[in-house]
Amino acid sequence: MLSVTDLRKEFGGLVAVDDVSFDIGDGEIVGLIGPNGAGKTTLFNTITSVHEPEPGARIEFDGTDVVGLDTHLIARRGLVRTFQIVRVFDEMTVLENAAAGAMFGSDASPSTEEARERGREALEFIGLDDKADTLASNLPIAQKKQLELARALASEPRLLLLDEIASGLTPGEIAGLTDTIRRLRDERGVSVFWIEHIMDAIMGVADRIIVLNSGKKIAEGTPEQIRANETVIEAYLGDEA
Ligand SMILES: Nc1ncnc2c1ncn2[C@@H]1O[C@H](COP(=O)(O)OP(=O)(O)OP(=O)(O)O)[C@@H](O)[C@H]1O
Ligand SMILES: [Mg+2]
Repeated sequence: MLSVTDLRKEFGGLVAVDDVSFDIGDGEIVGLIGPNGAGKTTLFNTITSVHEPEPGARIEFDGTDVVGLDTHLIARRGLVRTFQIVRVFDEMTVLENAAAGAMFGSDASPSTEEARERGREALEFIGLDDKADTLASNLPIAQKKQLELARALASEPRLLLLDEIASGLTPGEIAGLTDTIRRLRDERGVSVFWIEHIMDAIMGVADRIIVLNSGKKIAEGTPEQIRANETVIEAYLGDEA
């Protein structure tokens, strides 16, 4: 589904992403972990054309080269992301926020009615439909994160990139969110690429984990393999594992 080869991103002299290659298959949930500043968000930003990679990188989504393609056109192809800092439209209702997702989705120009319908359907799937008419600014953080997920879902993604969606949540809220993400894969066939620092969240649900450190991919494997990997323990997991 996604095939990344020799992805490199420099900021001045700093190599934020250092020749990283990996694949994500259909229906897979893949975790992306690593210390602060490892280059995780920059990797997402480069895949979604927020940043341009250094020449020589290949990013293929569904067999099509997406390097240089505008972010919204990439989203239209079904590669959709959430942000490390929640970005809901505060002045809009929960339903309007979710419907906005449909506007940026695979269907180029849904009618307002269709967009609202897809937004409502996404809210139901996420379990936020009872808050449809609430102003987004009034939601607590856990529900804002659910709303980000609903908005992404309304755009009918095939691959969802999640940037620290579990941070700042209670263990109970994390369990709920993790369950929703698993259902997205199981019931909607959405593939997931998920950056997370909360190991209990990501290790329990990911089929595979990729580890970045100082921009480099230092390991890749099942959660069990990653927990036992000496290089990863030294660079990141330490006594967390
Ligand atoms: N727009 C930018 N301009 C210059 N440097 C940047 C930019 N974005 C990121 N960096 C630098 O690139 C490196 C990787 O940052 P990035 O945000 O990708 O890390 P991260 O793995 O997401 O970290 P965290 O876990 O803290 O979110 C850091 O040294 C950061 O300061
Ligand atoms: Mg980050």
